[in-house]
Amino acid sequence: MISKYEHFMKSIIFVLLLFIKSFTIAQSTSYTEQFRPQFHFSPEKNWCNDPNGLVYNNGLYHLFYQHNPFENVWGHMTWAHATSKDLIHWKNLPIAIKEENGIMIFSGTCVVDENNTSGFAKNGKIPMVAIYTGHIENVNQSQNIAYSLDDGVTWTKYSNNPVLDIQKKDFRDPKVFWDNSKKYWVMLLMLSAEHKVQFYASYNLKEWKHLSDFGPVGDTSGVWECPDLVQVPIEGNTNKKKWLLQMSQNATMQYFVGEFDGQTFTNENSTTDIYRPDYGPDYYAAISYNQLPKQHLPTAIGWINNWNYANNIPTIPWKGAMSLPRTLSVKKVNENWVLIQKTDPAINSLRKKLVTIPDASLTNSKKIFPAKSTQFELQLSITPLEKNTVSAVRIAVNDNTYFEIAYNNETQILSADRSKTGSDDFSEQFKKMNIYEKKIALVDNKIDLQIYFDNSIAEIFVNNGEAVFTFQLFPKKNNLAIEIVSNNKTFFSNIKFWEMKNIWK
Ligand code: FRU
Repeated sequence: MISKYEHFMKSIIFVLLLFIKSFTIAQSTSYTEQFRPQFHFSPEKNWCNDPNGLVYNNGLYHLFYQHNPFENVWGHMTWAHATSKDLIHWKNLPIAIKEENGIMIFSGTCVVDENNTSGFAKNGKIPMVAIYTGHIENVNQSQNIAYSLDDGVTWTKYSNNPVLDIQKKDFRDPKVFWDNSKKYWVMLLMLSAEHKVQFYASYNLKEWKHLSDFGPVGDTSGVWECPDLVQVPIEGNTNKKKWLLQMSQNATMQYFVGEFDGQTFTNENSTTDIYRPDYGPDYYAAISYNQLPKQHLPTAIGWINNWNYANNIPTIPWKGAMSLPRTLSVKKVNENWVLIQKTDPAINSLRKKLVTIPDASLTNSKKIFPAKSTQFELQLSITPLEKNTVSAVRIAVNDNTYFEIAYNNETQILSADRSKTGSDDFSEQFKKMNIYEKKIALVDNKIDLQIYFDNSIAEIFVNNGEAVFTFQLFPKKNNLAIEIVSNNKTFFSNIKFWEMKNIWK
C-alpha cells in the first residue's frame, strides 16, 4: 500500500511532468499552425514587429526585427535575427541585441563598415555596426550603436552609448547609409510627434552633426516613424535615378520622391495627394536593404500587421510576419513620380506547376476555378465590357464567406474587402478596418492583378506594381475555393495559377 506521502509526491511529479511536456510543446513549432504563412517570414514563436537592420553581407541577406523574446505581445523590445541566401528561405539565428538595464532596443539600421570608419575592426575582421534607438519607457529615446565581428551573430554594445541624445521622448528609428559623394554616413531620424525627418552626418558613426529637416508635409494624421531614403532607378531609363523617401505614420505609410544632395531632401511630388507604398491595412515600417550587390534592384521589406489590432490577431504561438521582398523603382505619371513595386524575382522559384485557367466572359454570373488552395500566386486581367460593371475575384471562398477584390469601372475604384472572410471577432478595430480602396485607371481597357495568398496574408500587386494592397485575413480552414464574378459583362483573361512551395521544409 502506498503511503499518503508517496501518493502526494507521485501526484506532484505527474503534474510537473505534464507541465514540462506542455512547456516543450509550446516551445517548438513546426510552422504548420492554422494561419501560419508558408512563404512569408514569421518568427518561430512570440511577438515581432518592424524589420530592422536590413543589410547584405558576404552572401547573406540579414533580417533583424523587433521582437519580444518572452511573450506573444509587444514588450521587452530586442533585435531578433534571421538570414537568407536568396531573400526567400530564412534561417532563424539567436537573439542579436538584447534589452538591458531598462533600455529597450527599438528600430534601426545595420551597415557593413568596410573602411573601419568606426574603429571597431579587430584582427582584420570588418565590423557590422547596428545603429538603433535606445528606448526608456516614457522618458527618453536616444541613438546607440553596437558592433559585430562575426558577421552579425554576436553583438557588443558600444561603451560610450548613446551616440546621439537630444533629450527627447519621441526621437527614433535611425536609417543610416554611406553617402559616396560626401564620403560620410547619413542618418535619418524621426521627430515622431513633430512630424519631421531629421538628417545627420558622421565620419565615424559615433559623432553626428545635424544637417537639415524635412516636414511636416503630406499625411500627418499619426506619429511619424521609420524613415527610409534610397536611390531608385527610373523605369525604362537605366541611367537616371531618383531618391525615394518612405515613412510610416501610424498606422499606414507614405512616400515622397525627389533629390537628395547629401544634406537636404527635396520632394518633387505634389503634396495635395498622398502617395502610399501600400493601400491596404497591413504594411508598415518598411525599410530598404543597405549595401545590396550592384546588380540587385533596391529592395524593401515591411511588417505585415497594424498597430490598431496587432496585439490581438489570432495567431499562436507567434504574431507578425514580413512582407515578400519588394523591388523599388519609380515612373512619371501625370507630372508625379509613382513608386513601382514588384516582388523580388527569386519568389518565382517557389511556384509549383502552372495551372492555366481558360479565359472567361461572364455576364451577371460567376465561375468557380478548378484550383483550390490557400497558398498560391494568381494572375489575371480584368476587362469590363459594359458600363456600370463591377468585376471581382474572390479567394478563400466557402459558402458565403470570401475575400473580395473588385473593380468598378464607373467610379474607377479598385477595392478589397475582408468583411466577409470568416473570423474577425478577436478585435473591434480589425472588424471596422475591412474595406480599402484606390482610384486606378484601366490600362488598355484592363486591370492586371497579381495576388499572393499565404493562409492569412494577401499581397495584391495592381498593374505591374503601380499600387499594392496588403491584408491579413483569418479564414476558416476549408475556405479554399477561388471564383470570379461580374454583375454586367466582364472578360477575364491571362489567368495563371501556381500553388507555392513551403519555405520552412
Ligand atoms: C514602429 C515602431 C517604431 C519603434 C518600434 C518599437 O512600428 O513604433 O517607431 O522603434 O516600433 O517596437
